[in-house]
Amino acid sequence: MLENLTAQPADKILALMAAYKADPRNEKVDLGVGVYKDASGNTPVMRAVKEAERRILADQSSKAYTGLAGDPAFGKAMRDLVLGDAVPSERIAAVATPGGTGAIRQSLELIRLAAPNATVWLSNPTWPNHPSILKYLGMKMAKYTYFDNATREVDFDGMLTDLRKVAEGDVVLLHGCCHNPTGANLTYDQMSQVIGILQEKRAVPLIDIAYQGFGDGLNDDAQITRLIARSFENCLIAASCSKNFGIYRERTGILMAVAKDADQQALTQQTLAFLNRQNYSFPPDHGARVVSTILTDPALRADWEAELEETRNGMLALRQQLADELKRLTNSDRFDFIAHHRGMFSRIGATPQQVEEMRDKHGIYMVGDSRINVAGLNAETVPVLARAIVAAGV
Ligand code: LMR
Repeated sequence: MLENLTAQPADKILALMAAYKADPRNEKVDLGVGVYKDASGNTPVMRAVKEAERRILADQSSKAYTGLAGDPAFGKAMRDLVLGDAVPSERIAAVATPGGTGAIRQSLELIRLAAPNATVWLSNPTWPNHPSILKYLGMKMAKYTYFDNATREVDFDGMLTDLRKVAEGDVVLLHGCCHNPTGANLTYDQMSQVIGILQEKRAVPLIDIAYQGFGDGLNDDAQITRLIARSFENCLIAASCSKNFGIYRERTGILMAVAKDADQQALTQQTLAFLNRQNYSFPPDHGARVVSTILTDPALRADWEAELEETRNGMLALRQQLADELKRLTNSDRFDFIAHHRGMFSRIGATPQQVEEMRDKHGIYMVGDSRINVAGLNAETVPVLARAIVAAGV
């Protein structure tokens, strides 16, 4: 049987992780996979997470199953964190999932059940795993213009032109904040225009929100998601806790589906629980329990928010330093976009050859499309990257 297998395409982000590990150079710089690193290159366990884990270890008296949707306390805490009071809770169906990827996967499975002929529209570019999962599931997909390689900002006119081609019932995947891989984001007003078109087309938004708190702050980063949730009868929201709680390996995420009324919510909830049962039965609990412990305890929550703010401000400072350094070296404002972008990533606009040159000559690892993970930098490596960018002729 196994002789029939053919090699599957490598995930380019994970392949880059392996290449970085195998590079023997001491001065190498990892700007690949989206994992936050502090100034000394560590990915710390957040203080509030440590404390929540200590409490769970001391107090937990059972490891029996929770429910197919996960612990209800996690569901409620995440609904509040992401959606606030944008939509009445009676309209929201939700299941805990293994990470944000699990939430994306389950959202696509739900779409496949409810609208097997729908095309799922993805921003061009998007996180490479979006098209990969869609292809694996045999679903129809299309791309809408998103990024202007010349300005390194959103090509808004191009985006609107393409979204006008969306058919009734199609699904449009939007990044809630901190667009991955580009770092370029829509303003609230621009998103209102997008919403107008999608309403006219009777399309269904699917929001991937994996970096809430990494852009303009916890609340600000949720505004676009809340606006969309308020504006449609149905929408799907895949949220990840990997980054903002720093619990990558615990696989903690949630899929929320906004239904038009309580009856539709009940049917959707039952379907989501069914999908969890088919794919992995009960979702992982530890990370979810850490998250709900933090979000429901005012002191722990305040400490988590403070540490998240330090993280966010650290990334903003690195962005500014890199933009300033490039301004000094090039005597131009060509790279100012790096300071405007938000989140962990920026696509800097280098060609694949230039990306390769920076890796070979300077040991700088970025994704082949020239996405850098800003959190992989520190005050010492920013000038190294800036010089490499200039030397490669970006
Ligand atoms: C990334 O884009 O680097 C992260 O979302 C990690 C991943 O799983 O690809």
